[in-house]
Amino acid sequence: MPSEDSAEQSARAAVGAAVDPPPSFVEQANVSDPGVYEGFAENWPDCWERAADLLSWAEPYDEVLGGAGPPFRWFDGGRLNASYNCLDRHVENGRKNQVALTWEGRLGESRTYSYLELYREVNEFAAALRDLGVEEDDVVTLYLPMIPELPVAMLACARIGAPHSVVFAGFSADALAARMDDADSEYLITCDGYYRRGAPVHQKSKADNAAIGLDQDVTTVVVDRLGDGTPLAEGEHDYEQLVATHRGETVEPVARDATDQLFLIYTSGTTGEPTGVRHTTGGYLAQVAWTAHAVLDIKPEDTYWCSADIGWITGHSYTVYGPLALGTTTMLYEGTPDHPEKDRVWELIERNAVDVFYTAPTAIRAFMKWGEKHPDRHDLSSLRLLGTVGEPINPRAWNWYRDHIGNGECPVVDTWWQTETGGVMVSTLPGVDRMKPGAAGRPLPGISADVVDGDGESVDPGESGYLVVTDPWPGMPLSMVHDEDWFAAREPARPNLDGYDWAYFTEDGATVDEDGYVTLLGRVDDVLNVSGHRFATMEIESAVADVTGVAEAAVVAGPHDLKGEAVYAYVSPAEGAGEATLREQVHEAVESAISPIAVPDVVVFTPDLPKTRSGKVMRRLLESVAHDEDLGDTSALRNPEVVGELESALDDEE
Ligand code: WTA
Repeated sequence: MPSEDSAEQSARAAVGAAVDPPPSFVEQANVSDPGVYEGFAENWPDCWERAADLLSWAEPYDEVLGGAGPPFRWFDGGRLNASYNCLDRHVENGRKNQVALTWEGRLGESRTYSYLELYREVNEFAAALRDLGVEEDDVVTLYLPMIPELPVAMLACARIGAPHSVVFAGFSADALAARMDDADSEYLITCDGYYRRGAPVHQKSKADNAAIGLDQDVTTVVVDRLGDGTPLAEGEHDYEQLVATHRGETVEPVARDATDQLFLIYTSGTTGEPTGVRHTTGGYLAQVAWTAHAVLDIKPEDTYWCSADIGWITGHSYTVYGPLALGTTTMLYEGTPDHPEKDRVWELIERNAVDVFYTAPTAIRAFMKWGEKHPDRHDLSSLRLLGTVGEPINPRAWNWYRDHIGNGECPVVDTWWQTETGGVMVSTLPGVDRMKPGAAGRPLPGISADVVDGDGESVDPGESGYLVVTDPWPGMPLSMVHDEDWFAAREPARPNLDGYDWAYFTEDGATVDEDGYVTLLGRVDDVLNVSGHRFATMEIESAVADVTGVAEAAVVAGPHDLKGEAVYAYVSPAEGAGEATLREQVHEAVESAISPIAVPDVVVFTPDLPKTRSGKVMRRLLESVAHDEDLGDTSALRNPEVVGELESALDDEE
């Protein structure tokens, strides 16, 4: 297995010296009782009431956990509305003038919404959606960049019980169409364009192209972000106008069953077909609110910034739902971290006096490369806590983050979780636990997870194995869209999990130390993690293979200093195809089928791909070539001569 090799390699990555959170932090932490782990364990699953108590329920639940097997029913019988929890109750509790959302757009452009203002706009847009015909359980697709209308639309959908499906704005028309088709979504909220590095990027044309291929009629709402009055076709509506038409209207929040779907989000899995993960209203919201409280230590009076795009799960859980459920001020930033200058992030933190900052290792590695002179120019003393998510963080980057951004004091929480888990699962509680740079931490209170070998037996400390979750958790998804038995039926479950009543294999490799701290080693399936974005090698590969002129192609993960993993495409050209043109076509094909982020960093041309005698492409070997590793015995290949050619082709490339 290719990835086991790389897993073993990274296992040698050292974990840095343990660090205690400073007493000044512990004193003020939301959760600082060391007994919390035991307390949860002794009282599982009822311990999760503590998370549910952070929410307001329209009807109380009968049982914390119903259902003896999948689908499990968290907070069974309970009813609630996510938009009510994120807005109304804060307005009702005398906090209507607190800033809910602060948005930073282009340089010099910003907007804030108090809880009352956000409540009003969400109500008006919810009324508009109803007027357009959206009913409970209709899937509304949101194809928007990081502008306030995105969270407004999410909460408006939640208010009327229509699950949203946010498609990352950087995805292509094809990717959007595939997702709308799969979800049978007849409503699309998009915009004319947005700004990147100060320049307008067009979005509407991608949405138009997506609609062409769809069977269903689509009702489209367009936000005029560029302000140049994009002409609208029939069946298209202007966002501003809709909201203005419904000015002052309110919409009763629909009480949803705790197990009703709040949203779906597509993610890449082993198969290469993006799959919709459906999250619940009660369990999901409880887990994200609780983890935002216990792990990110968010307080209502904080200004909090999670830099992830809302197009991914991190933005759903920790830019929108978690922080707003807690009634804090959440910040949204439309731009890139290096525009107009490489100190943009620190300037924003200083100006907004951000208390808690949550970002990804890929960003931290870029900040390190740009140098500490950028943060040093700014007063970052408002920061109390730093977080990271999305990939393993090496101790050097962890320490740099704490030293240069956190003034050598802020605790850094390394939070492990996935689209499928909804919220954080493994981390440290910053008011309780020691931190170990490079190790995410222990499974959170109430979460059961283990690192097991192929037979499903717990590994000894220091040995590598597979990370599995061995009990249900509140934020678990309902199922994949088309497969109600997804949890039960997921194949291939690499470790043998027969010994468990129920368990979920995360597809991540890991080690665990004597204190139970888990260090993540990366995916063991064919999923690439490029700058924290998840793509299946198969989806990129099929886009490359579709190019006329490509006879055969294989895509694997290679190393990348900043992005974590790089996309390596090995291409065997058809007779007569020119390499320069082909390389361009490969780039364009991936950009148009998926996204610019998935475009191969390296394209290696080779007359032939290395194959086993049975004709299977040896991906393991291609990965080793990309990593410049010893290739071992290649005599089992049908075409061993190709190996030398590959290596020299790659050398030319790099
Ligand atoms: C990886 C993002 C190491 C992991 C929330 C997982 C991590 C995948 C960490 C999920 C972390 C996430 N340390 N690896 N702290 N957090 N990952 O679905 O491989 O986009 O399976 O969810 O990211 O990516 P996803």
